[in-house]
Amino acid sequence: MLKNDQLDAWDRAYFMHPSTHLAQHARGQSPTRIVATGEGCYITDRDGNRFLDAFAGLYCVNVGYGRTEIAEAIAAQAQELAYYHAYVGHGTEASITLAKMVLARAPAHMSKVYFGLGGSDANETNVKIVWYYNNVRGRPEKKKIISRQRAYHGSGLMTGSLTGLEYFHKQFDLPMDRVLHTRAPYYYRREDAAQSEAEFTRQCAAELEELIKAEGADTIAAFIAEPLLGTGGIVPPPEGYWEAIQQILARHDILLIADEVVTGFGRLGAMFGSEHYGLTPDIITIAKGLTSAYAPLSGSIVSGKVWKVLEEGTDTHGPFGHGWTYSAHPIGAAAGVANLKLIDDLGLVANAAEVGPHFTAALQDAVGGHPYVGDVRGAGLLSAVELVADRETRQLFDPGDQVIGRVIAALMAEGVIARAMPQSDIIGFAPPLCLTRAEAELIAGKTARALQSVLGA
Ligand SMILES: Cc1ncc(COP(=O)(O)O)c(C=O)c1O
Repeated sequence: MLKNDQLDAWDRAYFMHPSTHLAQHARGQSPTRIVATGEGCYITDRDGNRFLDAFAGLYCVNVGYGRTEIAEAIAAQAQELAYYHAYVGHGTEASITLAKMVLARAPAHMSKVYFGLGGSDANETNVKIVWYYNNVRGRPEKKKIISRQRAYHGSGLMTGSLTGLEYFHKQFDLPMDRVLHTRAPYYYRREDAAQSEAEFTRQCAAELEELIKAEGADTIAAFIAEPLLGTGGIVPPPEGYWEAIQQILARHDILLIADEVVTGFGRLGAMFGSEHYGLTPDIITIAKGLTSAYAPLSGSIVSGKVWKVLEEGTDTHGPFGHGWTYSAHPIGAAAGVANLKLIDDLGLVANAAEVGPHFTAALQDAVGGHPYVGDVRGAGLLSAVELVADRETRQLFDPGDQVIGRVIAALMAEGVIARAMPQSDIIGFAPPLCLTRAEAELIAGKTARALQSVLGA
C-alpha cells in the first residue's frame, strides 16, 4: 500500500481538483484529505480519523456508505456486461428496469426518462430539450431560460450560466446569452425586515412577472428552479411561493424545469420535492440520489406534454440528435436499480420525514439562541444554520474573518463534516437518509461546541 506522504506529494504534483484554490493546494498550503473507507453515515480517512459525514459527500450518498447490495449489483453488472450504448434503441436489463422504476416514483404526469451521467449534463440536456420543443412548435424566438439568483444547476457552460452564484461565473465569461436571473426566494434575506412571508412571496412573483413582460413572454422558454434552494443556502421557499410562481408560468406558457438533483428520491421526506411542495413540472432533473453516488448517473424526466412534442419533432425532422457515449451506462443503471430498492426496503423516505424535522429542531435547541446565529431552517434531511455578525440587522461577518471556514474546521475537529455554503456564512447539513435520531442529536451538540469554540457564548 502506498504511504500517505507519497500520495500527498503525487496529489499536489498531478491532480487538478474541482472547486479548489489550485495554487495554494499545489504549493502545499491547504490540506489533502485522503478518504479510505465508509460505513453508514461515517467515513474514515487514511490517517485513521473517523467522521460523521453530515453532508453525505456532496449531498449524494443518500443510502449511506458501504452498502454491499449496491456494490454487488455493480460487480455483477461489470462481469456480465460492463458496457453497451443506448443509441438507436439499444438498452440493457438494468437501464430499462431503472427507467420503469424512476417513472413509477415520479409524479403521474411524467412520461419518459433520458439518462445522463451527472446533474450538470442532465440540465444541459434539459435546455436542449426546451429549445427543441419550441423549434418544433414553431416558436424559434421562445428560447430564454429564467433561473434564480443563488440557484445551483451545475458548472457546464449553460448550466454554469443558470447557476446564480458569482463564484461559478467569475473569470469564465459566464453567464452566457439566453439566461436571466430573478430574485431568490430567500425570506431571511428580504430587504424590508417588516415584510411578512406572504408579502415577500408576492414580491418574488411580481418581479418574475415584470421580468417576463420586460423581455417579452414570447422570448421566454422555461423557468428552472430547485424546489428548495440548495447550494445557494438551503432555503425552503416562503409560504405560497410555488403556487404563485406556477400561476405566472402557466399564464405565459413557460415550461417549468424542477431541478431535483438534491431533492429527488427522498431527501425532503417525500419521493420528490415536486410532491412535497406541489409542483407540476414539465421536466425533472435527477442525479445524486438516483444511485446514491455509487456510480455516476443522472436523468431528465419529461412530462407527457413535452414527450408528445419530441415525438412530433422526430416524425418531422428525424432522429433526436443528442446523446453521450455513457448515456444509461449499465453499471450506473445497475447501481440505480439496487439503490432504489434499498431506499424502499429501508424505508429511507419515511426516515427522512421523521428524523429530518427532529434534526432541525435539535439544531434549533442547541444553537438557535446563540448570539451569532441568525436563522436555523430546514426541510426533511436538509438543514442550515445561518451565522450573522448582528442578529438584529442580519449583518454579515467580514469575509476577512473567515468565520464560516473556522466553524467548519472546528466541527471537523469534533468529528463532524458539514459544508460551508457559498456567498454568506451558512453551515449546511444534508446527512445520509439513514441518519438516526441519536446521530442527529450528536451533530446538533457538536455544532454548538464548534460555535462556542470559534465565536464564544
Ligand atoms: C440542484 C443541483 N443541480 C445540478 C447539480 C450539478 O450536478 P453535478 O455536480 O452532478 O454535475 C447540483 C450539484 O450539486 C445541484 O445541487
